[in-house]
Amino acid sequence: MTETKADTGFIHVFESGGDPARKPLLLLHGTGGDERDLLALGRSVAPGASLLSPRGKVLEGAAPRFFRRLAEGVFDEADLRRRTHELADFIVDARSRYGLPAPIAVGFSNGANVAASLLLLRPEALAGAALLRAMPPFRDPPSADLSGKPVLLLSGLLDPIVPAADSERLAALLASEGAAVEHRSLPAGHGLSQADLSLLTGWLSRV
Ligand code: MLT
Repeated sequence: MTETKADTGFIHVFESGGDPARKPLLLLHGTGGDERDLLALGRSVAPGASLLSPRGKVLEGAAPRFFRRLAEGVFDEADLRRRTHELADFIVDARSRYGLPAPIAVGFSNGANVAASLLLLRPEALAGAALLRAMPPFRDPPSADLSGKPVLLLSGLLDPIVPAADSERLAALLASEGAAVEHRSLPAGHGLSQADLSLLTGWLSRV
């Protein structure tokens, strides 16, 4: 395991996987998480995949995030755009540093929202994305060419943070840009359930 600060300034962990047939995973934590949060999840849902896991650079109090928000579910979109490009540049650097193909993002909550933003602003940065409890990141979304890009969207029917209509809207938006979207709504809240992990494991074995 390597823990280091890349030139683009993200504290991150890189774990080299043993299975070259597996695409690497870009693990993106939720608010208050860090670069270690999703490592065990990554190892379990994609055994043998390399794991690249940055820590969000924005602090809300003591809680790391990937971009600023003005209130819960209300994003500072100028900051979101800037941070999304910074994260995409980090991916470019990390790919050349560690010799990786484009990764599949696995993002939870705030990490899922920045992954959705990456898809819309820098689609070439990702080979695909699993968005766990994501909402539409932009009020007026940019258009992007997502032709054939695999996207798994897992939402919780009892999620108090992401209303069902918002996850439907995000699924429709990504599909309208050409992504191969699989959207499943689970009997769960904002937290992840066993069903999330099973669906994610199956999806990752197919992409
Ligand atoms: C966000 O700010 O990205 C969403 O509200 C999810 C969260 O981090 O709580």
